Amino acid sequence: PRDLKIGSAVWGQRDLLDHDPENPTEFQHILGSEFSSLTPENDMKWAEVHPEPDVYDFSGADAVVAFAKANGQEVRGHTLLWHGQNSQWVIDASADWTCQEARDVLEDHIRTVVGRYAGEIYEWDVANEIFQDDWDAGGVKLRTEANPFLKACAEDPVGLLGDAFRWAHEADPEAVLFLNDYNAEGINNKTDAYYALAKDLLADGAPLGGFGAQGHLSLQYGFDESIAKNFERFADLGLQVAVTEADVRMPLGEDGEPTVEQIALQAERYKKLLEGCLDVGPACSSYTVWGFDDARSWVPGVFPEGYATIMTEEFQKKPAYHALLESLTDA
Ligand code: G3I
Repeated sequence: PRDLKIGSAVWGQRDLLDHDPENPTEFQHILGSEFSSLTPENDMKWAEVHPEPDVYDFSGADAVVAFAKANGQEVRGHTLLWHGQNSQWVIDASADWTCQEARDVLEDHIRTVVGRYAGEIYEWDVANEIFQDDWDAGGVKLRTEANPFLKACAEDPVGLLGDAFRWAHEADPEAVLFLNDYNAEGINNKTDAYYALAKDLLADGAPLGGFGAQGHLSLQYGFDESIAKNFERFADLGLQVAVTEADVRMPLGEDGEPTVEQIALQAERYKKLLEGCLDVGPACSSYTVWGFDDARSWVPGVFPEGYATIMTEEFQKKPAYHALLESLTDA
């Protein structure tokens, strides 16, 4: 009905290095046939792609891009500036960086990584999770402690961010460049801060093109129904919006299984994320699930929860899968 990309994350290093187009695994067959967009779950992050100052390793990222090309899919790039999964050499060296030294390292990285895939990535998560909750002040603040680049340039973080977007845009003028974060679905302190930052960056002439809400939800919390209103205000700035990492986790019973009620509520939450996207029309460019099968989900390794994706470990389609398909066919 419209050019909304429905995507999934995939970890090239783990899932695609052995890909034989003539003889795909069941996982690869589903990945290649059910989605129109792929996001490298880890392969384009610093620790994977830039392990040493003068060493780049594109094997995992190349596998994702090649698979997408072979299956007529597009690729979301993820992510260039984050406090997580930085290379050890970045963590070590950044302790003494001046802002200029941080900028030189970041510029080289962005131009190299974005430049390699110029014309092949339709959206980049340039800056990921750059705000953190500031419980004392009852708001949010920029991650100028945990993010080594924001830390070195704490004097002028918005200047650094603007340049990160400019470097990415110069390296690939075709890619739409995103800010991306979790707990960023509805209208709250964090998305208010992103809304203000977006206006600052745009006023500064930075080529910011989109705002991504990750959509990592848990049934332990409610759903923020202000998602469409939130997406609308970013769209009103002329930005695209996207749901970039949807999954809906839940605490499981002794038997490791969810209840029927949880499974139904999960379907409803996936659908609400998609409806929030559909409500803003063409401004919502992509809806990506953060993996589509429970066996590969990141969730059980991090939370005492699970069953977060749209298919079981045996690739059985859950009610959540059918709820998404229903919304898409009605759209
Ligand atoms: O690559 C090493 C491997 O060499 C080693 O043998 C193995 C041993 O555990 O670890 C591997 O690193 C893992 C890394 O993924 C792979 O790049 C880490 O253990 C593992 O913790 C890491 O988890 C990723 C997580 O980000 C790290 O924060 C998840 O797979 C990934 O799904 C998750 O994705 C993030 C998004 O990028 C940003 N939004 C939040 C989302 C969930 O945290």
